[in-house]
Amino acid sequence: MRVLSGIQSSGKLHLGNFLGAMKQHIEDQEVHECFFFIANYHSLTTVQDPELLRAYTRDVALDYLALGLDPEKAKLFRQSDIPEVTELTWILSTVTGKGLLERATSYKDKTAKGIAPSMGLFCYPILMAADILIYRSDLVPVGKDQVQHIEMAQDMASYFNNTFGREVLKRPEPKLNEAMIVPGVDGQKMSKSYGNTIDLFDSAKATRKRIMSIKTDSTPVEAPKDPDNCNVFALYRLLAEQDEVHALAERYRGGGMGYGDAKGLLADVVERVLGPARERREKLERDPDFVEDVLRSSAGKARAVAQEVMADVREACGLITAKDVTR
Ligand code: TRP
Repeated sequence: MRVLSGIQSSGKLHLGNFLGAMKQHIEDQEVHECFFFIANYHSLTTVQDPELLRAYTRDVALDYLALGLDPEKAKLFRQSDIPEVTELTWILSTVTGKGLLERATSYKDKTAKGIAPSMGLFCYPILMAADILIYRSDLVPVGKDQVQHIEMAQDMASYFNNTFGREVLKRPEPKLNEAMIVPGVDGQKMSKSYGNTIDLFDSAKATRKRIMSIKTDSTPVEAPKDPDNCNVFALYRLLAEQDEVHALAERYRGGGMGYGDAKGLLADVVERVLGPARERREKLERDPDFVEDVLRSSAGKARAVAQEVMADVREACGLITAKDVTR
């Protein structure tokens, strides 16, 4: 199966990005043919500072590699190194009704938050469909909030195929992460826009401090506590081993343990998971040529696939002739 996913470079990545997406991507590299890219064209809808965009793009690459993405097994590239996706975006826009895009909840959410309603933001789902369809991807691992976009990509594949009477584009399927909700320090879904994140690569000390600030209720130390109603436990469950999770649940129910202790245990597991990655990241940071080589060589392989599919697309809609395709 060909698996594809993108992650925007629009700020520091956090535990929600890791548990909700990247961890799954890194596991997929063992079983599928994987294409992962840094969605920097998409980021332009919100980040319009060139230095910042470059830095964020580099950071996503470093984060993925540090967390265990293996460039021998999976491709990791910049979206903008495959300029053909912008061509496919245009072509798809000619077969897609404006009404479809008007139903996109992410556009409504983003503009409600004050992000400028540019045409880029409005057409974001078409660019995302092009990302997916240009590699004839089978599966797209994403969080729940992106499922509507995948359904739109399915629709756009069918619009194109029906319009031109050929099965050129493949309908992709979303691959949902078992309805995982990663709470932030305030208990809402962890998200950069809520300012409640635990960032992946802060120092160990800053990360611990952040964990200590997680909101809990005012149950006194002696009283029994409900693990299923606690943000600290919810995060612990996502990161610790099964037996550790059971042991902590028992301590919650037994009473006599304060939330401070639970936070300390959470900080320990977070460090156990992220500590080695932080070290790898520091090494990678000192080797920008290696990182750039990974991005370029992956982009070369991805682009070869994209160009093949685009030749079929161009032929199907009459931009070139069948003869040109084989030339
Ligand atoms: N819109 C996705 C997000 O914000 C990022 C993205 C861009 C993407 N293109 C994609 C995800 C293609 C999956 C497939 O999370």
